Amino acid sequence: MKKAFLFVLLLCIPLLANHQTEGKKVFETYCWGCHHQTAMAFGPPFSQIAAKRTKAEIEAYIASPKSMYKAFGYKRTVMTQLNLTPKELDTISDYILSYKGKK
Ligand code: HEC
Repeated sequence: MKKAFLFVLLLCIPLLANHQTEGKKVFETYCWGCHHQTAMAFGPPFSQIAAKRTKAEIEAYIASPKSMYKAFGYKRTVMTQLNLTPKELDTISDYILSYKGKK
C-alpha cells in the first residue's frame, strides 16, 4: 500500500515539472517583452502580482485586461489582449504564483 502511494507520487513529479516548463514557455512567448519574474519592467513583476492576487484574478486579468483593469485599481490599461487557450491560462497563472515571496 505504502509502495503504491510512493509510486503514484513519483509519477506526479515529471507532470508537475512539465507544468512549470509549459508556464515558462507561455511567459517567454507572450509576456517577456513587458513583464519580468521579479524585476519591474513595463508591467509589474510576477512576484508582486503573486503577492496580491488569486489564481482566478490573474486568469481573469490575462483573459481580458480591458474588463478587469478598473477592478485592479488601474486608471487605464496598455496590456495586450492575448487570447490564450484555457490550458495556457492555467499554466501561466501557476507560473506567476510560483514567484510568490521571491525577490
Ligand atoms: C504590451 C505589454 C504587455 C504584455 C505583452 C503583457 N502584459 Fe501584463 N501588464 C502590462 C501592463 C503595463 C500592466 C499594468 C496594467 C495594465 O496596463 O493593464 C499589466 C498587468 C498585468 C496583470 C495584472 C497586474 C496586477 O495588478 O495584479 C497581470 C496578471 C498580467 N499583466 C499578466 C500578464 C501575462 C501572464 C502576460 C503574458 C501572457 C502579460 N501580462 C502580457 C503589460 C503587458
